[in-house]
Amino acid sequence: STPASTRLAVRAAHLVDVKAGTVRDNPLVIIEGDHITDVRYDGQVPAGVNVIDLGSATLLPGLIDCHVHLTGDPNEVKGDYYEAMLKRTSLDAAILSPTYAKRTLDAGFTTVRNVGADDYVDVALRDAINRGDIAGPRMLVSGPALGATGGHADGTTGFSPWIEFHDVNGVADGVDAIRHRVRENVKHGADVIKFMASAGVLSAEASVGAPQYSQEEMNAVVDEAHRWGKKVAAHAHGAEAIKMAIRAGVDSVEHSSLIDEEGLKLAKQHGTYLDFDVYNDDYILSEYAKKGFPASTIDKEKLVGRLQRENFQRAVKAGEKMSFGTDAGVYPHGWNAKQFAVMTKWGMTPMQAIQAATVNAADLLGMTGTVGQLAPGYYADLVAVNGDPIKDVSQLEHVAFVMKAGDVDRNDIKR
Ligand code: ARG
Repeated sequence: STPASTRLAVRAAHLVDVKAGTVRDNPLVIIEGDHITDVRYDGQVPAGVNVIDLGSATLLPGLIDCHVHLTGDPNEVKGDYYEAMLKRTSLDAAILSPTYAKRTLDAGFTTVRNVGADDYVDVALRDAINRGDIAGPRMLVSGPALGATGGHADGTTGFSPWIEFHDVNGVADGVDAIRHRVRENVKHGADVIKFMASAGVLSAEASVGAPQYSQEEMNAVVDEAHRWGKKVAAHAHGAEAIKMAIRAGVDSVEHSSLIDEEGLKLAKQHGTYLDFDVYNDDYILSEYAKKGFPASTIDKEKLVGRLQRENFQRAVKAGEKMSFGTDAGVYPHGWNAKQFAVMTKWGMTPMQAIQAATVNAADLLGMTGTVGQLAPGYYADLVAVNGDPIKDVSQLEHVAFVMKAGDVDRNDIKR
């Protein structure tokens, strides 16, 4: 990044103030090294500052996706599901993940939370990005997601019991094994703990939403993780599993598909963030059958897809704490922003959707003061769009300027 003594400024026509929920005109963001030192609106350029002029563009804080999997992409599955399932290892994931990281950054996502990766490939990716060896978003990572034998974290489910798999990364049954697994993840560099509270769509179980840990087991995940100062993200589709996870004290529920009235109340009481990956359904239903995924998977998606969107709308109406999580990796990296339009179609204002991916996401990640706003002291993570994202949130699918920590990743603003 630029030396701390270099003063740089970014000028544009508008700036989305995500904290205040307003748009301000004629902003000048002043940057020293990797962080913002001032945001002014008086048109005055301090002496000795190099200005990047983005003309009529609108500036926003770098976007944040709280649910990605940078170690895989659906385009790896070229019509042969089993090829991808059985012939690839974490080395393949490690080779490909820098490409996905770069696509994500280029799309304007300067911070992501990676929730579930085998063999700590996510830790290595995060560290390579932090060292400046490769370009990518700032990452918080979970390592392998915890889950029950035969459940959503157990990728060996459905195969012959005579096949010996080398390691089933996140599988842990019972309180002691769970506590051990959490400690292992922390030991090997996890920033956050992810576990599977319920069954899932893209795994072999018959159910999509049934709880897969007991209340006691979920409590153990959260108790152990929090003792080590790590937040917890719970995958949960089913109403019961969602409530169990919230009662256990998780920091966010991922998917949240079948959340009921009681679940919405509980989330509010506990201050739990809800992530709804509401774009995902479109991609799975149009592409996954072609990729050779079993009909049972497609049927499971049909059970949750529509209801997830309806329940997202209920959650918005109820004023729940909502952050932005897409599950990119299930759909192609770089397409993260496609979710914004679905969020506004199902009840959010564009400003609310943008806040979910900035201030709210930063709060969930424990990074308020660092990312998610354009304010003094924050990382100089900036994106800009040519159009007006408050009129048409899908403008965020065409981010044309990306700066991370004071470094310009790309600048395709039309002048
Ligand atoms: N990774 C999730 C699962 O397999 C994807 C769920 C996608 N479906 C949805 N409607 N959001 O369970």
